[in-house]
Amino acid sequence: MNQKNYPDYRSTSYHLNVRGRKVLPNGGSRSSIQSSPYTIFLKSGHGKNIVDVDGRKLIDFNNNFTSLIHGHCHPAIVSAATEQISMATAFSFGSEIEIKLAELLCQRVDGFEQIRFMNSGTEAVMNGIKVARAYTGRAKIAKCENAYHGSYAAAEASLAVDPTDLKIADPISKAYSAGTPQGVLDDVIIIPFNDVENSRRILNQYGSELAGILFDPFGSGLGRIAPSQDFINLLAEMRDTHGLLLISDEVIAFRADYLGCMHQFNTRADVTCLGKIIGGGFPVGAVAGSRDVMSVFESTDEKARLPHGGTFNANPVTMAAGYAAMEMMTPEAFLRINSLGQAFRNAITDVLEQMNLQANVLGQASVFAIDIIDPRIGNKNLKRGALRQIEGIEADFINAGYFLSAGLHGTVSTAMDENDIDPFCDTLKSILKTM
Ligand SMILES: Cc1ncc(COP(=O)(O)O)c(C=O)c1O
Repeated sequence: MNQKNYPDYRSTSYHLNVRGRKVLPNGGSRSSIQSSPYTIFLKSGHGKNIVDVDGRKLIDFNNNFTSLIHGHCHPAIVSAATEQISMATAFSFGSEIEIKLAELLCQRVDGFEQIRFMNSGTEAVMNGIKVARAYTGRAKIAKCENAYHGSYAAAEASLAVDPTDLKIADPISKAYSAGTPQGVLDDVIIIPFNDVENSRRILNQYGSELAGILFDPFGSGLGRIAPSQDFINLLAEMRDTHGLLLISDEVIAFRADYLGCMHQFNTRADVTCLGKIIGGGFPVGAVAGSRDVMSVFESTDEKARLPHGGTFNANPVTMAAGYAAMEMMTPEAFLRINSLGQAFRNAITDVLEQMNLQANVLGQASVFAIDIIDPRIGNKNLKRGALRQIEGIEADFINAGYFLSAGLHGTVSTAMDENDIDPFCDTLKSILKTM
């Protein structure tokens, strides 16, 4: 049991927020973790547990936004990273461990013949788009309205907008951040997620100008609703009709399957953007595809079609940690963590049904989202980019010892097991009862 309640204005976390706000906008460097009344500051994490600077112990269902598939400080990852750190952290030479991680990933996924590493999922999506542009010689891309793909300007178009009423008009490309050049927006065609007929019409209209279609086969930023098989089939049909590339953003989705997320749809992407779990807890991004598509990065006597540098790309610490993390993600490990995710979703559904609440339990594989519609409770409807308000049910979870992502999203790690389900559901039940 935790002794102190959140919010506590005498806490060390609160004082760090006050101090941080003097030198950091909103007190930190990630919009996604800045919170109101204040952001919790962390001291340590081991396995599924984290301890904050005030000594509060929490079970971490955020796992650094799905990136820590083994939870915190897994001994094999710590050992691989520290061994590498003791030898060298970054240098302007090749390292064998980069090839080993590339081999591991390319052996697993149909369609990965070559891979290129970088430092974040945002860079992965940016480079995925650049690959499609360099390969096709076309400028425009298409993406789904309100889909989140990181912080690259083109990928941010029409994020956090009110959904377009398709009886009146087609979605248009809108700026997410102030100052986005109109030229960037003009090169992004917006389609309605999972709406096959309207998307077909729009994609056919712009098909010959499109370098690629950027999409997330997990629906991560769309309330955890997966694309339908029909929607994926439409995207594949558009590739064949218009000679564009399918850019699959698997920055989160790659945790779905040993063989990659698109395997579940029986479709191959041309470019896959990766991040999060493949870095073993260190900053990472990557794009992968066929030798032909990836040849845009290759230079000879001539400049590459897509020159791509980066001081810390494929740094050996990330590569060593990523290799250790991904080596442990055997087919059995994926099955175990995915069935644990399903068991959580089933148990949560039972609780909500027993309590007669209007709610949906969303998510796939090892993630869940509890979407309570019931007006008596209701999840906070968080607009992306707005300050997270930790209050009501979200604060109750913290005070009961659980850290969930905003909107009651949870990510299961391999550090968890079936014994974690009942205590979590008991907590959910007792919070809902008191509300
Ligand atoms: C689907 C998706 N794409 C891209 C990104 C950007 O990754 P990063 O935060 O590593 O830049 C994220 C991050 O959450 C994501 O969820």
